[in-house]
Amino acid sequence: MKLLFINGVNLNMTGIREKNVYGEQTLDEINAEIAEHFKGDECEFFQSNVEGEICTAIQSADCDGIVLNAGAFTHYSYAIRDAIASVKVPVVEVHMSNVHAREEFRNKSVISEVCRGVICGFGKNSYILAGESFRL
Ligand code: DQA
Repeated sequence: MKLLFINGVNLNMTGIREKNVYGEQTLDEINAEIAEHFKGDECEFFQSNVEGEICTAIQSADCDGIVLNAGAFTHYSYAIRDAIASVKVPVVEVHMSNVHAREEFRNKSVISEVCRGVICGFGKNSYILAGESFRL
C-alpha cells in the first residue's frame, strides 16, 4: 500500500505550539513513528503552509490513499475541497485534536463532504488510524 500523509498550515509547528493540545513531539518525530508503523508499506510525507501547494500535492498524488490534516485550512478552504473532489485517490481527513470539543469555528469542515471519512481526537494516532482505514 502506498500512502501520502499531507499536513497543512502550522502543522510544522507541532511540538512547539500549543503543546497541551498537539503534544510535545515534532512533526518529524511523529512522521518517523508513522513510517515505522507502516514499515511494510510505502509512505510519503508532505507539509506546506501554502494552500495552493497542498492542492498541487493532492492533484499529483500517485498513491492508494491520502491522509490529510489540512490544519485551519479545513475550516475554510474551498480550493482544497475542490482539489480533493477532482481526484480519484481517496482522502481521509484527520485532526490530532477533537475539533468538535473546541472553539465553534473548528466544528465546521468544508472538506469532510468530499473525504472518505474523518478521524479526529486521537493525537498522532489519528494519522495511523486513518492510514489503516485504507486496508479495509
Ligand atoms: C488541527 C485542528 C485545526 O482546527 C487547527 O487549525 C490545526 C490542527 C488538528 O490536528 O487538531 O492546525 O487540524
